Amino acid sequence: IERESLDQIADCQSLEALDKIRVASLGKKGQLTGILKGMGKLSPEERPKMGALANEVRERIEGALADKKEKLERDKLNQQLDKEWIDISLDKKQARRGHIHPLSQTKEELEDLFVQMGFIVYEGPEIESVANNFDALNAPMSHPSRDKTDTFYIDDTTLLRTQTSPVQIRAMKELGAPLRMVCSGRVFRPDDVDDTHSPMFHQLEGLVVDEKVSMANLIHTLDVFIHEMFGQDMQTRYRPHYFPFTEPSTEVDVTCHACHGAGCKACHGTGWSMELLGAGMVHPNVLRNCGIDPEKYSGFAFGMGIDRIAMVKYGISDIRLLFDNDERFLNQF
Ligand code: PHE
Repeated sequence: IERESLDQIADCQSLEALDKIRVASLGKKGQLTGILKGMGKLSPEERPKMGALANEVRERIEGALADKKEKLERDKLNQQLDKEWIDISLDKKQARRGHIHPLSQTKEELEDLFVQMGFIVYEGPEIESVANNFDALNAPMSHPSRDKTDTFYIDDTTLLRTQTSPVQIRAMKELGAPLRMVCSGRVFRPDDVDDTHSPMFHQLEGLVVDEKVSMANLIHTLDVFIHEMFGQDMQTRYRPHYFPFTEPSTEVDVTCHACHGAGCKACHGTGWSMELLGAGMVHPNVLRNCGIDPEKYSGFAFGMGIDRIAMVKYGISDIRLLFDNDERFLNQF
């Protein structure tokens, strides 16, 4: 019985089968139990010997059963672990870190510079009223920028702002004088797309209103700004210009970044980079429209294309690169 049971236990492959072997050998109706039951028929001398022997056999079988049971349970667990194993190394792909877009970098740099000079950062909406975008800014009804071909109108009274200048109006109306603020954001014009034009681009606007503010303050402020932004060796050139909301008005050029003024392909031999800035002394009508007394206060304002500043600063030849989100381009910044 012992050998037979031990052989069966050794061959056994499952916990269920092992249990059947246990019942067959040690169970109530099992072989060994049968022998123990039949011991009554033995002689008194034989009985203890036989009993001891049967107990030894039972212990050995029980031992073998327990060992086998443990082994089968371990195998079963290992099989399950094998099946449910998760390769945590598979998903180890490094999450790629993004970074700040070159336009946002430029915008933040500009704002920081002006904040250091005592300006506050103000904000205005992209959907603007005709009143703020044109009327209060002293734009004559006949001004070409009001044309349907130059402005995205939403209806007769609302439009997508064509410039950040309407934020001047909002700031003066809300905060009054004295005032020093910059504001930046998206502006919209139905321009055809080329390497320097896009129907959506970015401007940074600045406004200073105080007593005795002069053109000299304007030029000094912009010179300091341009030197900080592009380097001390940059030269500036102030050309007379016209804007409805400033008088006098000027357009500001800076030395070509590529040739430092010598004249090259990038600046078409002029030595000056493309127009970056419009500026001027705030028109008295604009101050009046915002409830500020032009006898007591004067001011200057300026507006610049952030996209163009970024292009000059980083030597980018095509504005579209700033909006394409091509990683091969963006990863360079
Ligand atoms: N708003 C003008 C433009 O978009 C720029 C400007 C701002 C000019 C402030 C003068 C003063 O061209």
